Amino acid sequence: MTENRPQKTILRALAGELQPVPPVWMMRQAGRYLPEYRATRAQAGDFLSLCYNPELAAEVTLQPIRRFGFDAAILFADILLICQALGADLWFETGEGPRLSTIANAADLAALRPAHAVHDRLSPIYETVRLLARELPAETTLIGFAGAPWTVATYMVAGRGTKDQGPAHALMTADRAAFQRLVDLVAEATIDYLSEQVKAGAEVVKLFDSWAGSLKGPDFTDFAVKPVARIIAALKARHPGLPVIAFPREAGQGYVGFARATGADCVALDNSVSPEWAAAQVQIDGCVQGNLAPGHMVTGGDALVAETRRVVEAFRKGPHIFNLGHGITPDAAPENVTLMIETIRRG
Ligand code: CP3
Repeated sequence: MTENRPQKTILRALAGELQPVPPVWMMRQAGRYLPEYRATRAQAGDFLSLCYNPELAAEVTLQPIRRFGFDAAILFADILLICQALGADLWFETGEGPRLSTIANAADLAALRPAHAVHDRLSPIYETVRLLARELPAETTLIGFAGAPWTVATYMVAGRGTKDQGPAHALMTADRAAFQRLVDLVAEATIDYLSEQVKAGAEVVKLFDSWAGSLKGPDFTDFAVKPVARIIAALKARHPGLPVIAFPREAGQGYVGFARATGADCVALDNSVSPEWAAAQVQIDGCVQGNLAPGHMVTGGDALVAETRRVVEAFRKGPHIFNLGHGITPDAAPENVTLMIETIRRG
């Protein structure tokens, strides 16, 4: 290996290197399926207090690394913290999910704080990153993250998660210029937020666009491609060589050419696309991440082993980071995670 080539497996994959055993991490790897996570969350009081407590947030980030030896750690935080930093109210209803104050019109939008003001409230997150950069094992890559502007905007408009993102689509239809201003504001704040994460020690950043699948045609271009391309270009200008993972979840055909259109180094795939299709259509442009169905972490057994092998095999001819197609669920069994990792590493 030459001196200037990255040593860590995740960074090597992101640089386009083909590896005999793909590196692995898991979305929501720090989460409720782990008893040690539930204990630390109880110690913090609630989910948001955990996110804003650097020592405890670093602790839960490290828990799955200690237990499973994943190749990457992802900062423990949430994509909705930036909404709070922009002036929205945010709370979590136990068993139901996030709730926020809503944005119904241009006046609500005008009441938000400017993008550059987000750091005062987000500084504990940067402290978590600094702690992790010190404490992680030398071989583990630290991933920072943010929500992509479209997905964050869907929560800010509706005030909660919605099945079809109807309220965001309605505002887009009623006042496209106002909706564009919201997306631009979130994009600008996200550039600053991720840039601070990188300065604090994040080696890779990932943009989660969980609701990209409800954008079609020109809306997909305007709100799933352009804001992500803008964020990536700005980050790479500030931090030359920074690898970026983009996750336009359920984009379907929209995955084709997404890396080229946005400048992402890696496209994360959900499990609605087959790995064979994605190898032919998406991996031809570079590294991909994914895409085992998270349900296997609940059901385990031979099906887990067979599907894990299928994903590894399908992506064997190009750069690949093994992951689930979405986050691991609270009812998953930790032993199934161990079985998945052993299957990947032992072949
Ligand atoms: O992946 C990780 O381990 C890092 C931490 C992380 C969390 N959320 C912690 C979390 C990351 C990267 C996220 C991203 C996130 N948050 C997304 C994008 C990815 C996706 O899942 O599509 C979204 C849409 C959110 C918003 C959000 N946060 C929702 C809708 C919910 C409720 C749903 C649920 O799973 O309960 C959350 C809560 C949340 N974020 C939890 C965790 C561990 C569970 C809360 C708890 O412990 O009570």
